[in-house]
Amino acid sequence: MTQIFAHRGYSTLFAENTMGAFIEAEKAGADGLELDVQLTKDGEIVVIHDEKVDRTTTGKGFVKDFLFKEIRKLNANKDGQKKEPIPSLIEVLEWLQSNKLICNIELKNGLIPYEGMEEKVIQLVRNYGLSDRIIISSFNHYSIVYSYRIAPEIETAPLFIEGIYMPWIYAQSIRAKGIHPKHSAMSDTILVNTMENGIAVRPYTVNKDEDMHRLFKINCTAIITDNPVKALRIRKQYENKS
Ligand code: G3P
Ligand code: CA
Repeated sequence: MTQIFAHRGYSTLFAENTMGAFIEAEKAGADGLELDVQLTKDGEIVVIHDEKVDRTTTGKGFVKDFLFKEIRKLNANKDGQKKEPIPSLIEVLEWLQSNKLICNIELKNGLIPYEGMEEKVIQLVRNYGLSDRIIISSFNHYSIVYSYRIAPEIETAPLFIEGIYMPWIYAQSIRAKGIHPKHSAMSDTILVNTMENGIAVRPYTVNKDEDMHRLFKINCTAIITDNPVKALRIRKQYENKS
C-alpha cells in the first residue's frame, strides 16, 4: 500500500514545518513526514524551508545569520493564534520517539553549502536511534552521496525536478534506495520500472485528487502531500487491492 508522507507536516491546515503541523499529521494517520533543514550561525539544525526566515516567520534575514536562541524567538505560525517557534531537529527527533512515523529529512544545502550539515544531522539521527526510520533527501546529490558514505545504514533519496533516463540506474550508482521526483516529471512507466528495479519512488508534492489516484493505482511506494487527510480518504478506495 502506498504510504502517505505529510509535506512540511499537515501544511494545508497548519503552519508548515512546525511541531503543530507534524503532530496533526501524525494524529490524522499519516505514515510519514517530510521536513526541511537549515543551519544557524552557531551550528544548530533547524526545521525551516527557506534560507531566509522572511516568508514563514515574523523575522527577517538568513537563517545562517541567526544564533539558535535568537531564531527561537520568531513566530513560525504568524497567521495562527498560538505562537510556534521554528523547531530544532532535536525537538522533532525527540517527539518521533513517541510514535512510529517515518521521517524524510530534506537537506536544504543547494544554495548555501552548509558545512558539516550532513555530519550533524546523521549524528542526531544516530543519537536518537532512528536510523531505520529516516530518509535523507536533497536536490544536492553530492550531499546525498556524502551522507551515504558516512552513514550507509540511513536511506538516501535524490530529489528531481525533471525526469532523467533510467533513474533506477542512477539511484543504484549513488547507492540511494529511493528517488523523490516531482510528481509530473516522470511517466507511470518510468515510475513502475524504477520500483521493479528495487528503488522506492516517493513523488512530491501530490495535492490534486487525480494525481493521488494516478499514484495509488500504480501502487507507488509513497506520496508526499500537503494534505494527508485527503490522501488517506482517497487511498481507502485502493486498500485490499495491493
Ligand atoms: O521533498 C519534496 C519537496 O519538499 C521538495 O521541494 O521546495 O517543497 O522543499 P520543496
Ligand atoms: Ca522539502
